[in-house]
Amino acid sequence: MPADLPLSVWPTAQRNARAQRAGRYLEISGTHPAKMLPAIAARAIATYSAPGDLVVDPMAGIGSTLVEAVHLGRDAIGVEYEPTWANLARANLRHATSQGATGHGEVVCGDARHLAAVVDPAVVGLVGLVVTSPPYGASLHGRVTARPGQGIAKSHNRYSTNPANLAHVGLAGLLDAMGTILSGCARVLRPGGYLAMTVRPYWSNGRLVDLPGALVRVGEAAGLVLYERNVALLAALRDDHLVPRCSFFALEQVRKARAKGVPRQVIAHEDLLVFRAAPISASSAGAVVRLAQPMNASPAWRAA
Ligand SMILES: C[S@@+](CC[C@H](N)C(=O)[O-])C[C@H]1O[C@@H](n2cnc3c(N)ncnc32)[C@H](O)[C@@H]1O
Repeated sequence: MPADLPLSVWPTAQRNARAQRAGRYLEISGTHPAKMLPAIAARAIATYSAPGDLVVDPMAGIGSTLVEAVHLGRDAIGVEYEPTWANLARANLRHATSQGATGHGEVVCGDARHLAAVVDPAVVGLVGLVVTSPPYGASLHGRVTARPGQGIAKSHNRYSTNPANLAHVGLAGLLDAMGTILSGCARVLRPGGYLAMTVRPYWSNGRLVDLPGALVRVGEAAGLVLYERNVALLAALRDDHLVPRCSFFALEQVRKARAKGVPRQVIAHEDLLVFRAAPISASSAGAVVRLAQPMNASPAWRAA
């Protein structure tokens, strides 16, 4: 990561995840194993887009980024591979509308590797912001239920059992797919548009995998320009200390490592990598004129 890259710390876990979602998302959303904190999505959307802009999430899960976008008066399109999560994202969007969200949101069930073909062709080159987070790891933290005398039971810890889901393709497969997905994002973004991606380093076989660093290289190879790196806190800031909000499993992994003498720390943030699409050039000046009209005012893709 370049040392002079602008960096700021976002206090995105002042309320815990459950409190952030309560009432705003359908209760069943808890069955998805790896959702973005709504405060991260909302802050990214407020920072890198304007009301009326079009926001896209190519791996939309239960639709956190889409729901926050429509609440902030942006329009939103999500792509999600798994029909279960795509349907849940649609239901969360309907819920947002019933609560007064003014943006329009829709979800396509499809493969993000074919983004430009999956979304309405009318939006290619017009997207103001992509907000997303990649899947990594077949089995995630999920929910824990204590069973007296029998330890714990783990549930809701998988995206799906489909081997084609990018959660199941391994690190090399994921980086390869992310190259294709980020190239597609660069294509649908308008000149100078933003792409904000949350990603965490993770431990694998005793080694810390620098997934953020790897994805910076993948993004740049896809033609995007690294613009900022932000630290989205997963712990609450209280006066002069942090209140950890880590999962049972993250704590358990650290405790086990420390018991073996490995001085491991709990990871208490997400990296929020921000890229920009290639800037406006003389040859793309026509596209700028089209963009002067906010998406909300344009019925073209809404009517499709
Ligand atoms: C980290 S989750 C995204 C969570 C989402 N930001 C939210 O808050 O609900 C990644 C999602 O990517 C989906 N996914 C995996 N492979 C995909 C593909 N090829 N195309 C689109 N989505 C995919 C997974 O099913 C999962 O729901």
